[in-house]
Order: sequence, then C-alpha cells, then structure tokens
Amino acid sequence: MVYPEDARLGTVVCTESTPNVLEFAFVVEGAADEITVRRGEFVSVMTESVTVIARVQDLVRTNRYYEHAEAVREYQSRGEPLRSILPTDRWQYTIANARVLGFWDKGRVVRPYFSVPPGAPVRRTEEQVLARFLKLETENGLRLGRLSHHELEFTPSIDRLLSKHLAILAMSGAGKSYFVSVLLEEILSRTKEQGRLAVVVLDVHGEYTYLKDATAGQLGVSDGEIEIEHIRGSHFQIPVPSLSAEGLSTFVSDMSGIQIRDLRRVISEARKRSKERYTLSDLAELVRGDDSINKNTKEAIVSWLINLDETGLFGIEAVPDLSSIMSPGKLTLIDLSDFISLKKKQIVTSYLASELLFLRRQQRIPPFLLVIEEAHQFCPEGRHELAIPREQIETIAREGRKFFALLCLVSQRPVKLSTTVLSQCSNQAVFRCTNPYDLEHIGKSSEGIDRSSLDSITTLEVGEALFVGEVVTVPTFVRIRRRKIEPTGVIGSLSEAIRRTDK
Ligand SMILES: Nc1ncnc2c1ncn2[C@@H]1O[C@H](COP(=O)(O)OP(=O)(O)OP(=O)(O)O)[C@@H](O)[C@H]1O
Ligand SMILES: [Mg+2]
Repeated sequence: MVYPEDARLGTVVCTESTPNVLEFAFVVEGAADEITVRRGEFVSVMTESVTVIARVQDLVRTNRYYEHAEAVREYQSRGEPLRSILPTDRWQYTIANARVLGFWDKGRVVRPYFSVPPGAPVRRTEEQVLARFLKLETENGLRLGRLSHHELEFTPSIDRLLSKHLAILAMSGAGKSYFVSVLLEEILSRTKEQGRLAVVVLDVHGEYTYLKDATAGQLGVSDGEIEIEHIRGSHFQIPVPSLSAEGLSTFVSDMSGIQIRDLRRVISEARKRSKERYTLSDLAELVRGDDSINKNTKEAIVSWLINLDETGLFGIEAVPDLSSIMSPGKLTLIDLSDFISLKKKQIVTSYLASELLFLRRQQRIPPFLLVIEEAHQFCPEGRHELAIPREQIETIAREGRKFFALLCLVSQRPVKLSTTVLSQCSNQAVFRCTNPYDLEHIGKSSEGIDRSSLDSITTLEVGEALFVGEVVTVPTFVRIRRRKIEPTGVIGSLSEAIRRTDK
C-alpha cells in the first residue's frame, strides 16, 4: 500500500515504559508551531503483519532551553528573552502519547499482542481502514455526522446502534434533542429494502412537533411519502374496560394487595353488567355500593378512581388505537406539552410503555423504538420518588430487546436515571457533561468507557458526542451533522424572546 507523504505524522520514540503493548509515544514531525496531530485523533503504525490502530491521548511539548527555571529567569531579568539569543525554536518539539486500540489484521480486529518498534513511522489512519475498524457501514448506515478530527462519516448500521437500548446523556443545551432529530431524520429516510423501524416519541416539551409537516423532499428521499402522525396528549384516552385491577394499580403509587383484590372483584362485576362499556366513575359507583368491602378500603379505592378520572385521560375506548397507528417507517409524536402536571405525563407514559410491549410480544405491531425525553422524570433512580412508569420502563429495558421493543432514553441528569435501566442501555451517546456526579455515574454504568474518554466529556463542544457500547469497537468521538429540517418559529435566545414580547 502506498501512503501519501502528508499521512506521516511522526516517529515512535522510547520513554521509560513505552513502547509497550498498549501505549507508545512518538515525536511529531513538522515545524514547531504547526499543529499536525490532535488529541483524540486515530493514528496507526504499519508492521509487517498488522496495522496497529491507536488514539492520541495527550500531547506534550518540550524544549531543553526552558528546562531550567533559574536560567530562564536569569535571561528574563536581563531583559533579553532567551529566544533572541539562542535558537530555541529549533529545539522545540512535541511528543504525542498514543493508546493502542487494536490490531487490524487482514480485515479483522484483534487484541494487541506485541509492542510497536521504536523508530517506526506513525501515520494518519487510512479512512477506509478506520471505517472498517469501527465497523461503520458505508452503504446502509445511519448518517449521523463525522468523526471528530477526521473527515470520515460516522455511519453505524441500524443493527449496531438500535438493536439494543440507547441512552443519550448530557447536560442541558449540549445537543441531545438535536441529535434525536438527526436520528429521526435518518430513520424516516430509510427505504423498505433497508428496513424501517416504527418510532414513537414521547415529546415532553413539544419540541419535535415541527416534524409533522416534514416531506420526503426535505429529507432528500425520492421514493414514497414519509409518514408522521402528531397526537396531542390531551386527545389521548386510556380504555378503562381493558384495564385489570393490577393494570389500574400501576397508575397509583401505593395500592395494597387487599385493595387490588377488592377492585378485581368490582371490575369483574362491571364487565358482567355493562358488557365492557364502563368508565372509572362507574367503577367508583360499584365500589361504593359493595357492602363486602371494608369502609376504609372503600374510601381509598373510590378516591383513587375519582382522582384518576379527573385527569381526563381515561375513557371507554382507546384513543389512539395503538395497534393500528404503529407501522414500519412511521413516526408517531405524542405531544405531552399540553400537560402541566407531571403525573398526567407519567400516566400516559406508563400506559404506552406497557401497551406497546404487550402488543409487540403478541406480534401485533412491528419492531419499534420508543424515545423518551427527560427520562429521569419517568424512571428515576430513587425508590422513594413517585414515578408511575418506572416499572413499565424497567420491564421494557430488561425484556424488550428480545422482541425488538427498543428504548431510546434522553436525560440531562444521568445520576437521577434508574441504574437498572441505564445498565441495560448497551449503547450510549454522551454529549458535554460537567457535573462530577453525572460523570461518575456514566463511568460506572458503561463498561467500555476508559478514564481518558471520560475526562474528555467535559471538554466536548455542543453537538459533539462520545459513542460508547456495542455500536463502536472503541469509544468514538463524533460531530453530529446539521439537521436537514430546521424548526420554524423557535425562539433561540433570551434577547430574541424579550424583544418579541416587548412591543
Ligand atoms: N449537531 C449540532 N449542530 C449544530 N447545532 C447544534 C447541534 N447540536 C446542538 N446544536 C445547537 O445547540 C442547541 C441546543 O441543543 P439541544 O436542544 O439539542 O440541547 P439539549 O441537550 O436537548 O438540551 P436540554 O437538556 O435542555 O433539552 C440547539 O438548539 C442548536 O442550536
Ligand atoms: Mg432537549
């Protein structure tokens, strides 16, 4: 293989403990002030049998003229900078420390088993090799952006990115929702032949509503129409007759076994009497009139049923009918921004999560991805926190992937997110995050992440993410691409918002 000369970056040197199997250092070529190598960049060393693929962890600049503080100070105090007397520039050089990620051996990734030789030339990793090393898919992959410091497109296959649950974590404003939009664009533009996934987005702030008018043309796809349905949370209706006593109890945080048993009896009575057409207030009426129920239990059940009824979320029939709205390639936006009450958002989420898994298990709906924004509000870590859908989401997290009932959880407070759920997310996209508790939590919950990558998370730019997990061979930094469809009428800054209202 012939390499262009500019691909050459430096030469491996000896330090006290390197080169060893996992690390090597190289002195960077080029003029003193030229930046040819960047931290985080992939580099490689060719040996006779394999290509060693490594990543630059750190860059150290040295200059022997500046090694002795007394001497430098002496020249300084004489008013003669060292630079004006001695050829300091010529003695400045940069040492790059690189960590070996794997060997590329005739189309296969193998674990490192020997050390690179001192004196070996270090080169930029060839993009084709890098793409194959990272298991990217050039043809049918999801075009999410480009690798940081490289021009190579980041195109993981849908299997690698989404066939297990995905967590998108970062502090506020780092680019999580923007990335979700890019991901949705990619899923929407897939063809039948490439394989299409049904997607449901629980849109807590209504920030994806703009997608409802998206056209195939905007996404650059020619064949066929894209299908998007926008459902307002206030139109949502949970069918009471299809709920069992256990099902109803999931919407209430602390129903006892005895109360569930009594409720079960009342429900079977209601089924007999009204042929599957009854509401929560009908159930409350039946409970009131049932003399076999203890007075305290009766009051508790009635007040729960009435409280639930007052949310306005329950009715006789299901709206929408989930089994009919889920189809391959279709995006369903459930807009929860109408609700101020977190409880209502939680009830809808809880119902959706359990119903979608149930329908998928029975193969009545296609494989789907359920995107949950602000996931820490729906499946928090603290057991004492009231979170109605936690159990349902944890069930999908544990059992869903066998049926391709997949989760994409988005959160700005990873530390508050259920560890049960987070540890089931085989893939994570981590954007900028500076909170030390969140960082520690991310480090603990994802196996593949090394210390140096974790440290880099604090320095990521907006729209830049670290992908870890099964989607990539090694933790990989990616600049997410611009979206194709921009939302209109969004107020971006405070100054714009105050100018608009101050008329
Ligand atoms: N890949 C990107 N390319 C260009 N701009 C981006 C990118 N990602 C994010 N931005 C910019 O950053 C802004 C904030 O991003 P986003 O809304 O995705 O943040 P977030 O992480 O979802 O925050 P929050 O937790 O508050 O919801 C976007 O409105 C956009 O202007
Ligand atoms: Mg967001």
